[in-house]
Amino acid sequence: MQWASLAAVALLAQNAAAQNMLRFACSQLVVDRVDPLVNPGMRYTPHLHQIVGGNSFNITMDPANHDPAALSTCTSCNFKEDLSNYWTAVMFFKARNGTYKRVPQVGNGGPQGQLVNKGGLDVYYIPSGKVTAFKPGFRMLAGNAANTDPKKVSSGNICHRCWTSTNDNTFVGGAPCSGSDSVDIPTSTSCKMIRQTIIFPACWDGKNLDSPDHQSHVAYSGSGATGGGSCPSTHPVKLPQVMYELMWNVSSFMDKSIWPTDGSNPFMYSMNIGGPAAHGDYVFGWQGDSLQKAMDNNCNLNKDCPAAGLHAQTADQYNACTKAQQAPEQVDGWLAALPMGGESVRA
Ligand SMILES: *[C@@H]1O[C@H](CO)[C@@H](O)[C@H](O)[C@H]1NC(C)=O
Ligand SMILES: *[C@@H]1O[C@H](CO)[C@@H](O)[C@H](O)[C@H]1NC(C)=O
Ligand SMILES: *[C@@H]1O[C@H](CO)[C@@H](O)[C@H](O)[C@H]1NC(C)=O
Repeated sequence: MQWASLAAVALLAQNAAAQNMLRFACSQLVVDRVDPLVNPGMRYTPHLHQIVGGNSFNITMDPANHDPAALSTCTSCNFKEDLSNYWTAVMFFKARNGTYKRVPQVGNGGPQGQLVNKGGLDVYYIPSGKVTAFKPGFRMLAGNAANTDPKKVSSGNICHRCWTSTNDNTFVGGAPCSGSDSVDIPTSTSCKMIRQTIIFPACWDGKNLDSPDHQSHVAYSGSGATGGGSCPSTHPVKLPQVMYELMWNVSSFMDKSIWPTDGSNPFMYSMNIGGPAAHGDYVFGWQGDSLQKAMDNNCNLNKDCPAAGLHAQTADQYNACTKAQQAPEQVDGWLAALPMGGESVRA
């Protein structure tokens, strides 16, 4: 796929030249200190997440007895058949007076069309040739929530881009995680939004639905949003490439007079670490073989796809799927401390 030429392709309305892929919005199900992948069974996990997808999301999601496709009654994502869960850390802004505020999230625009979400993130499933969809119980993790070293990040797969336009339909820059995209969170006051990209590995060992580190059963085969290259012999099965895209609306924080005086980056993720700790969690939960059919039938973007039995919901429908916090605490407004460690401190 020539991602860099997508803008030109859209202008020419020659969609045949672009690779078909699923690209859709997911609204926030809940913002909660819960992580059934890394900290199963725990309330008030070490850091805060924003979670989207099926409403069977829970503090424990044992693959042996928790099938999101069977237990969820709604999804905050576009396709009715997709009861998967997708989650990431949230971004905070730290003000000069030492208080923190969660950075609002919006849907992405661009030449492939505007995505509407109420908080949350945009999800892509990008096939490259014949792909094998995930099996029930499959889960994985991209990135490392404890990493502080930008050099240890797969920068062609996990990155940030400064979005200088207030109009998120103005496509900015080339392929995801190319050009001046950075592992660190950008701090130019010309950024109106910061786009975060998290691309997951697209090769699987074909055996394990998970692994102790939630990573070694999968492998990258190159970088960028191309669907991945040839898979290594250790991980021979080509998966659909999962990509998360988050638009952090930093417009209201770009006033240096309210930034910390010590020159530190005022933006951080909920672990109190910046861009190098960016990470995403994935728990598969599509109904039956709907994802395999979607890939086999070249379903495209966020539209109904009758050949695969996919139904797109309206924004009102997927926005209505929410869940109460299981670790109740304040996560919005100015906070005296980040919600981490013991129970949160309120401003
Ligand atoms: C979530 O887990 C609790 C037990 O930890 C259980 O009582 C509840 O039914 C579960 N909810 C869902 C939707 O699975
Ligand atoms: C801290 O700074 C922010 C940003 O300037 C401001 O909106 C907020 O009211 C301040 N809070 C306190 C407790 O001073
Ligand atoms: C981003 O935040 C600014 C400032 O709060 C607001 O005016 C603008 O509408 C927001 N943009 C979007 C796309 O929500």
